[in-house]
Amino acid sequence: MSDISLTIIDKAGTAHALTAGSGQNLMHLMREHVDMTIGTCGGEISCGTCLVQLGDGWAGGSVSVDEQDMLEALDAAPGCRLACQLSLEPTAAGITATIVAD
Ligand code: FES
Repeated sequence: MSDISLTIIDKAGTAHALTAGSGQNLMHLMREHVDMTIGTCGGEISCGTCLVQLGDGWAGGSVSVDEQDMLEALDAAPGCRLACQLSLEPTAAGITATIVAD
C-alpha cells in the first residue's frame, strides 16, 4: 500500500497534513484525524456532512447518480464531492480537500 500525502482544511480553516494508504476512504480518514462531526450517515449519501472542495490535481473519479443528486441538493460548487464516495489513489498525492459542509 503506497502512502499518499494530502492536506485537509477543516471548518475553521486549519490545515491538517495527513498520510493515507491507497484505497483509503477520504471521509473515514477525515473523521479519524480531523473532524468527528462529518460523515454522520456512514457513507450512505444521506447526510451531506462530508462535502469537500477538491483542489487542483485530483477530481476523485466518476460521480454516481446518487452522489450527483446529493451534490445538486446541497447546491454544491463545481469541484465539490462527497468525501464518503472517494477512495484515495496515488494520483491524489498532494491534493488539498477543504471541508465545506456546515
Ligand atoms: S457520509 Fe453522509 S453523505 Fe457522505
